[in-house]
Amino acid sequence: MKVGIDMGTGANGAPAMIDLEELLATRLLVQGNSGSGKSHLLRRLLEQSAPWVQQCVIDPEGDFVTLSDKFGHVVVDAARSETELTRIAGRIRQHRVSVVLNLEGLETDQQMRAAAAFLGGMFDADRDHWYPVLMVVDEAQLFAPAAAGEVAEDARRLSLAAMTNLMCRGRKRGLAGVIATQRLAKLAKNVAAEASNFLMGRTFLDIDMARAADLLGMDRRQAEQFRDLQRGCFVALGPAISRRPVAVTIGPVETSARSISPKLLPLPETPPKDAAELIFAAEPEETRPPPRKRAEPPPTPTADIMAQLVRAAETNAANSSAPAEIDEAGRTAMLDRIIGEIVADPEAGFRTNSVLYQDFLVRCRIHRVPGTPLTLSAFRRRLAVARSGVDDEMASGETWRQALALSESLTEDIQGVFLAVARAAIAGEPCPSDARLATIYGTHSPSRARRLLTYFEERGLLVVRKDLRGGRVVNFPDLGCETAPGDPNAPDDILEPRDAAE
Ligand SMILES: Nc1ncnc2c1ncn2[C@@H]1O[C@H](COP(=O)(O)OP(=O)(O)OP(=O)(O)O)[C@@H](O)[C@H]1O
Ligand SMILES: [Mg+2]
Repeated sequence: MKVGIDMGTGANGAPAMIDLEELLATRLLVQGNSGSGKSHLLRRLLEQSAPWVQQCVIDPEGDFVTLSDKFGHVVVDAARSETELTRIAGRIRQHRVSVVLNLEGLETDQQMRAAAAFLGGMFDADRDHWYPVLMVVDEAQLFAPAAAGEVAEDARRLSLAAMTNLMCRGRKRGLAGVIATQRLAKLAKNVAAEASNFLMGRTFLDIDMARAADLLGMDRRQAEQFRDLQRGCFVALGPAISRRPVAVTIGPVETSARSISPKLLPLPETPPKDAAELIFAAEPEETRPPPRKRAEPPPTPTADIMAQLVRAAETNAANSSAPAEIDEAGRTAMLDRIIGEIVADPEAGFRTNSVLYQDFLVRCRIHRVPGTPLTLSAFRRRLAVARSGVDDEMASGETWRQALALSESLTEDIQGVFLAVARAAIAGEPCPSDARLATIYGTHSPSRARRLLTYFEERGLLVVRKDLRGGRVVNFPDLGCETAPGDPNAPDDILEPRDAAE
């Protein structure tokens, strides 16, 4: 079936058409600087093709959620576990529902992980459900960056792999990638190269222009024309559009973007005195005390550390004239006591391991621990065990040794969380809440802690399930034990007394 999608006006005022079936087979790349009209173009394409094909929009700004009113797209809020997103994506393919994956409000690496999980679910759908889907990804350079950047490396790898799958191997599975980017030079080359159709909008930077010229098979001089394009005007090329580069002016859209370009408006004529009052006047609710927030704890003042040092030095001097010989067991006990002191400080949860390590070294000097100091890595390891709250009796058991062995496969920064849940399971205690796990992980974000559980589950280390009352139970197949049901949303009770005292 041949379906033409009307994108606006082409040369000589004739309608600029995209052959939808050809587009599904040959994919599309849109590039243009911020404000050149890419999102508007994608919206036009989505609106015009909505009656003909299932659509899925990966939307970092939450711009496309407005498609739901007029065209019935279901908005999938991405603030969920990766397992859930993958499952939802599978159902979307099964039931052929058009959706917008709204990633607004998530941190960049969370956006990448969520998009990767979702795209993975779309890609891995059952062969019976490989119906054609237009997969539109706005700001594609976020999900398929050309170079390693500020984001976590594993998030970058996951999302780049998902985008590569979409563009390189998606066609056979019915997935037709339509991707838009502000900066072609920032988009991974292999992802860009898989599109055979291009719509190039206004482009200022030479490096982007050069990449665009390469993709379109133009010489650099011809590509200069991209600099002068008006907003909403694109040079189009590809089997689904035209065999020769043509200028296209994108037509109007029926739904509106949530974010619009700022327009100049006359300033209000407010005398300066009133303006100051308007700004500084208190809101009625401000007269009440603000809701208590858990503030970032201040660092331990240097004076306090010095005082501790002096006190300890005095005690030591009083107790012994020469440092006593200490055996290995004695030294281990001292180290355990010191690490125990550090973990007992409620503020320690929010300190980085390297800050805690400095504190640890100071305390070792205070207590005159003999022998070579622990390395940072050995310290982290003991800290993870101490944070899990394991007692001596459990620590000497075989199951705990197995739990420790399992935790070895994880990076040191997340071992503590794993061991804390394992400890609860071995003791048959309720599964710790997200808030508790967040504190152990050293973050204020319970959703991050929740994602860690999903990560452990994906690695086959544990299985998370809900009991009939909705309590969370974590089972450790290798350890043969599971936690009692726990409320994932319970506050971090270990911090509560301190908060209450504030
Ligand atoms: N063809 C067009 N006709 C009318 N208005 C347009 C057209 N293209 C873009 N606009 C308007 O220009 C503004 C910027 O467009 P848009 O948001 O699509 O830019 P963008 O390229 O996606 O920018 P960014 O990369 O910053 O997201 C919007 O307010 C949009 O409504
Ligand atoms: Mg945009």
